[in-house]
Amino acid sequence: MDSWFFNKIAGAVLAALLVAFGSGTLSQILSGGGHGDADHKAKPGYALPVTAGAAATTAEAPVAFKFSDVGPMLKTASADNGRAAFAPCRACHTADKDGKALVGPNLYGIMGRDIASSAGFPRYSNALKGQKGPWTFEKMAAYLNDPRAAVPGNQMAFAGVKNNADLADLLVYLRTLSDSPQPLPN
Ligand code: HEC
Repeated sequence: MDSWFFNKIAGAVLAALLVAFGSGTLSQILSGGGHGDADHKAKPGYALPVTAGAAATTAEAPVAFKFSDVGPMLKTASADNGRAAFAPCRACHTADKDGKALVGPNLYGIMGRDIASSAGFPRYSNALKGQKGPWTFEKMAAYLNDPRAAVPGNQMAFAGVKNNADLADLLVYLRTLSDSPQPLPN
């Protein structure tokens, strides 16, 4: 093989690698995986960077959750910001009145409703069904901060909202999903 020919091949390989990096799928190429849509559809919740990021944070610095850190923020929290913080939840939940169940139950009227009691959602885990009473702000905060720690064995594949201000915004947004919103805790 003359060196000119070798250079041409090396150049082609480099170009291919650049394309691979450019599309950000080197790991897919290394693992032999494709870009296929079927691949993505087969795994609900696959494209949730929030989940992955928060999981990584948890692994590095586990911090015990205290409702007393979030409760006082509720009075000044923003339901509008909470609506934005709810974006990743929409992959699995509808929030409108009489919205259908997706991977998770519809969340209209969730605050103050009995845990695991959405009539249109037949797939609750035994872990969540084993929880007694209604969703209070305190229970909801702990659950959304770290679903797995708050209700071990529940099936919500979501790492949790670790930022207390975001969590407070999210709670006051969930509160608005109601015909008669629950009073804020004192
Ligand atoms: C990957 C899908 C997924 C994502 C993302 C997700 N959830 Fe869930 N959620 C579920 C599933 C599934 C359940 C039922 C869990 C069980 O039965 O163990 C659930 C349950 C719940 C419940 C309890 C419902 C009830 O009727 O008692 C609440 C509240 C909730 N999710 C809120 C949220 C919020 C808020 C977010 C975003 C911050 C979120 N979820 C993100 C799948 C998801």
